[in-house]
Amino acid sequence: MQNNLGRTEFKGLGFYVPEKVLTNFEIEQMVDTSDEWIYTRTGIKQRHIAAADQATSDLAAVAARRALEKSRLLPTDLDLIIVATATPDTQMPACACLVQQKIGAKNAVAFDIAAACSGFIYGLSVADAYIKSKAYQNVLLIGAETFSRIINWHDRSTCILFGDGAGAALLQYGNGSSGIFNTFLGADGAGAELLTIPAGGSRLPADRESVEKSLHFLQMNGREVYKVAASGMAKAILSALDHAGFTLEDVDFIIPHQANVRIIESLIQKLKIAPEKVFLNLARYGNTSAASIPIALCEAVEDHKVNKGNLVVLVSFGAGLTWGASVIRW
Ligand SMILES: CC(C)(COP(=O)(O)OP(=O)(O)OC[C@H]1O[C@@H](n2cnc3c(N)ncnc32)[C@H](O)[C@@H]1OP(=O)(O)O)[C@@H](O)C(=O)NCCC(=O)NCCS
Repeated sequence: MQNNLGRTEFKGLGFYVPEKVLTNFEIEQMVDTSDEWIYTRTGIKQRHIAAADQATSDLAAVAARRALEKSRLLPTDLDLIIVATATPDTQMPACACLVQQKIGAKNAVAFDIAAACSGFIYGLSVADAYIKSKAYQNVLLIGAETFSRIINWHDRSTCILFGDGAGAALLQYGNGSSGIFNTFLGADGAGAELLTIPAGGSRLPADRESVEKSLHFLQMNGREVYKVAASGMAKAILSALDHAGFTLEDVDFIIPHQANVRIIESLIQKLKIAPEKVFLNLARYGNTSAASIPIALCEAVEDHKVNKGNLVVLVSFGAGLTWGASVIRW
């Protein structure tokens, strides 16, 4: 829906990935796999892995400071910090509270969003609603993950896919023609079992048996997730555009969640869009879950692939199942 009363705009972006790089060749030494298998099935060459003393809030805090610097704002200017993450430092308190303390944003309210790989898009929708209602003015939305901590490094079907990182966006109300036009969200709990961490929550609290059975690690039915991901993202894009009063022809650039190059290629085929209009960086980072879209957006802006006035669509798919797309005039 077109909205002439103003929009939520992106004021500044920042991202951070840990220094340590883990290549496919190094994973060859850990499980029975090959660089060739990983690259042809996923498009991934390497991923970044958090240092032993780094947790999700540490990565998030670096990305947050960078986004604040770009926005020319101080941490004390922040009214709200939202962290989208499936890998908070602890179950309690929220990762966002730890980030608030780390960056010195003492005036900010802070909470987390749990929507896995769709977390950043879900967070955009929440931030947009708060900003438009004038409840909060300076909102920092962060997608941050350390999937290396919830991966079973003996499971070759999942350990090849994920990486660690964080991306942050400073969002503010703006009266101009740029900003978020519409965010479309979807969820289907019937697919909850397809991508899950079975133990460590209230259903199956940690005990010796759960640890021995490796139930605190991510489990995934890759083939089934693969089947629904591309069609879910295609529908989300079309719905978000429709609600915003645009069509695919109006779109200059698409930034999809970076899970698997084959899922993205399938999306390109389904929508018949030009491949050069679609951003890819997963060869370098793997799937960083909620961090993947803000990292990609930040790189796309820095590389001048996204320019002022462009119509950009962000689109995601993830555990839940959850999906979403956001239509933004840059
Ligand atoms: C995980 C994924 C790459 C696996 O690719 P796939 O083509 O579906 O492969 P399959 O699971 O059918 O396995 C095919 C074979 O490769 C094997 N295999 C699995 N992982 C392997 C690896 N890392 N190296 C070598 N062989 C592997 C399997 O054991 C299987 O062998 P088998 O035929 O002898 O049983 C793919 O399903 C995928 O990307 N799914 C989506 C996952 C995703 O993006 N999740 C996050 C969403 S947010």
